[in-house]
Amino acid sequence: MAALQRGGTTEAIPFCNIKALPITDSIAEASNARIQRVTNKPRNPANKASESEIAIIQNFQSRIENGDTLEPAIETLDGRTVYYFPIITNPMCLQCHGKPGKEVQEVTLENLKKYYPADQALGYGLDEIRGLWKVIPNPIQQ
Ligand code: HEC
Repeated sequence: MAALQRGGTTEAIPFCNIKALPITDSIAEASNARIQRVTNKPRNPANKASESEIAIIQNFQSRIENGDTLEPAIETLDGRTVYYFPIITNPMCLQCHGKPGKEVQEVTLENLKKYYPADQALGYGLDEIRGLWKVIPNPIQQ
């Protein structure tokens, strides 16, 4: 947010390119958990959701469309509890995840192409499921 306010998308995109994953990791360390963002339409290929995670995204999306409330999804993976929380688009997101030529400016598109040549995370509208926070609490130390 600070990079965006300072230098717009031209500053924020390269910042996120280097910092998004380390920031997520530092939150995880502070929370004694493993934390990732996963999505069916990755900008960073490292954030690609699995088949079962894509099903959770689709389920959250249809709940939004039906006006239902969203509860975190809880799964068990390799004997560990995994919590999935929805990440929903708001107007701010659309300058980098909205529609090219509408919310996403030409200069933003150029930066996205440069840093994320395989970007799939454009074309979103408001109140869409952009992805999931995936949280795996660390086992309690005895
Ligand atoms: C300044 C541009 C910008 C804005 C504004 C922005 N994003 Fe992103 N977003 C990015 C970039 C760049 C990445 C890739 C980060 C990385 O390299 O891990 C990304 C990645 C993500 C990811 C991880 C999955 C993926 O595709 O790699 C999610 C989820 C996400 N954004 C959601 C949002 C939401 C929700 C908002 C609004 C609250 C938002 N973003 C606003 C640029 C932006």
